[in-house]
Amino acid sequence: MKQRIVSGIKPSGDLHIGNYLGAIAQWIKMQDEYEAFLFIADLHAITVPQKPEDLHRRTIEIAKIYLAAGIDPSRVTIFVQSQIHEHAELCWILNSIARIGDLEKMTQFKDKSSGDARETAGVGFFDYPVLMAGDIVMYDADFVPVGDDQVQHIELTRTLGRRFNKRFGDEVFIMPKPLLQESGARIMALDNPDKKMSKSSTSENSYIALSDEPEKARKKIMKAVTDSGTKIIYSDDKPALQNLITIYALFTDKKVSEIEAMYVGKGYAEFKTGLADVVVAFLEGFQEKYASISDDEVLAVLKEGAEKARPLAQQKIKEVKKLMGFVM
Ligand code: AMP
Ligand code: TRP
Repeated sequence: MKQRIVSGIKPSGDLHIGNYLGAIAQWIKMQDEYEAFLFIADLHAITVPQKPEDLHRRTIEIAKIYLAAGIDPSRVTIFVQSQIHEHAELCWILNSIARIGDLEKMTQFKDKSSGDARETAGVGFFDYPVLMAGDIVMYDADFVPVGDDQVQHIELTRTLGRRFNKRFGDEVFIMPKPLLQESGARIMALDNPDKKMSKSSTSENSYIALSDEPEKARKKIMKAVTDSGTKIIYSDDKPALQNLITIYALFTDKKVSEIEAMYVGKGYAEFKTGLADVVVAFLEGFQEKYASISDDEVLAVLKEGAEKARPLAQQKIKEVKKLMGFVM
């Protein structure tokens, strides 16, 4: 039997090449070998305010991005989280064993709720990791392919799963492991190599959206900050260049050493031009596919995905509720 992977992306902003390289590119490589459940985490998106029309549009856009990137709906179960009500139900159930102390340790919460922001931070935002834990244990995931910012959430998933199994005396949940790209698990902002590339960034030049006009993306790369020095070498004391070389390597499947060799005796300008060509070629191909997929096609894929995921979720909730003593 194939092992299972489960992962998702929130429809809360424009997806960028960091999401693609850190998460989606891994999924594509794994879809043959694993049984994959990939969803659009709309219940997670609403933990921060979303305009209804944006949530609606982005949910469809993300599904289209999965398809345009090469996720094959005949092999992979692609669905919208909120269409499987059991996700919300399992979150509530896991809330009964999750501790405030567990959630207060989460970096994502700590980062966004320090000082005065704590008073107004949403309860859903605080509870975000419990909903995510439910998403993962719902389908008996063996692995969760994500970027490195999600690893702490997967550790919490294991904690909650273990606590539940112990308390209710059964191995109803299995323990998932995070899967990270060897490099690319953390693509950094183009204008600041100390910050990760993020869709919530206020500076447009910090990220390349999958929907960016290719020529706009080229300009962003030419403007990207670089380190002092002139040589194209991958090293920890040149974090900006390191990030650009990583992006180059991932888009071309080339080794870092090959890229270094290609640019011996050449400077940053030539390297950036080369990288811009690579990114532009990727965006052109990707966007052409994206444009060829209709909303109706996406909705049909999502419907079919929900129909495949729902019986598994229902079965899991049934087992869980029975163990806990609910009258059914
Ligand atoms: P999110 O946009 O937070 O829903 O993230 C979707 C996926 O993209 C998650 O697996 C993240 O870990 C991954 N991701 C987000 N930003 C980056 C980044 N800068 N580098 C690598 N992976 C990322
Ligand atoms: N929290 C994830 C993110 O921000 C999205 C997500 C929700 C997820 N549920 C998940 C990822 C389950 C993997 C598995 O990227």
